[in-house]
Amino acid sequence: MIDLDQVRAEALDSIAGAANLEGLEQLRVALLGKKGSVTALMKSLGEMSPDERRTTGQQLNAVKEAVAQALDARKTALDASALDERLARERVDVTLSVRPEMQGRIHPISQTIDEVVAIFGQMGFAVAEGPDIEDDFHNFTALNFPPEHPARLMHDTFFLPEKEDGSRFLLRTHTSPVQVRTMLKQPPPIRVIIPGRTYRCDSDMTHTPMFHQVEGLVIDKATNMGHLKGCLIEFVKTYFEVDDVPVRFRPSFFPFTEPSAEVDIGCSRAGGELKIGAGADWLEILGCGMVHPNVLKNCGIDPDEYQGFAFGMGIERIAMLKYGIPDLRTFFDSDLRWLRHYGFLPLDVPTLTGGLTR
Ligand code: PHE
Repeated sequence: MIDLDQVRAEALDSIAGAANLEGLEQLRVALLGKKGSVTALMKSLGEMSPDERRTTGQQLNAVKEAVAQALDARKTALDASALDERLARERVDVTLSVRPEMQGRIHPISQTIDEVVAIFGQMGFAVAEGPDIEDDFHNFTALNFPPEHPARLMHDTFFLPEKEDGSRFLLRTHTSPVQVRTMLKQPPPIRVIIPGRTYRCDSDMTHTPMFHQVEGLVIDKATNMGHLKGCLIEFVKTYFEVDDVPVRFRPSFFPFTEPSAEVDIGCSRAGGELKIGAGADWLEILGCGMVHPNVLKNCGIDPDEYQGFAFGMGIERIAMLKYGIPDLRTFFDSDLRWLRHYGFLPLDVPTLTGGLTR
């Protein structure tokens, strides 16, 4: 006759001593599995007399029940401590600041482009881009520069070597050729801004042979000069983060716009420090105008049905004005100390809701 109390006691002891989930599973198989010891005892009931079977059967069921319960309870406990252990192992100290470890800085050119894109993006403009190496058609002819026109010379163009047919590629002198590429590619309405590199053979305190511009182009049926003014005034206020900044439109000339204007913003130079906003002085920041009908025609758009405006400005120039960077040439010196001083933190992405600059 087997001592069932002892069977139960031993089983419960070993369950309580199971150190981990694998050990516990092995125990479960050894006790309650097909070939388990408790299962074998149940099978032995068949060989007993009916009386014996009844009493032993009841006791055996109680043992089996107790073992099953003990296995469950131990599993719950082991599960919980496995989780605790994992939580402890994978602990992250969220109070640790990541910033002191960030060495890299966003260059003021990239920052300024991101800010301009955020502002015009909010107004519904899409970003368009074009190649740095252009041909005469896109950089000049389609933009209504007549052949031999002095404006071509004024652009101090870098030309590539002559091809067999006598034509030459060139480095684009402004982002305006992307106006042409956009109009040739997509039907109006058009609303794009075009940031990019531009090149002119010129180098002194205020000119570098490579610099950046951002161009804007809007073409629709009833777009007029009022829209141009409203759009640019809104841009200037948002970009410079000054509510009260006077904006002045001065008549000017570009072959590809008519009428054309240059835009000045108010500033003061009191005490030798430049401040954007109401003041005694003016600063020129961009060129703009209504797209010339010839340009629309050259791009396959009917000027009797469509009209629009365009503008272009120098990225370095508006970056220097906003961030008080005194020398243009330092932008391209690759001086790490300069970048640490004027650069921006990579996580401070400019948005209108989160703030352009912090
Ligand atoms: N492309 C002109 C420049 O480089 C700027 C401009 C663009 C003017 C669009 C008017 C309209 O000076």
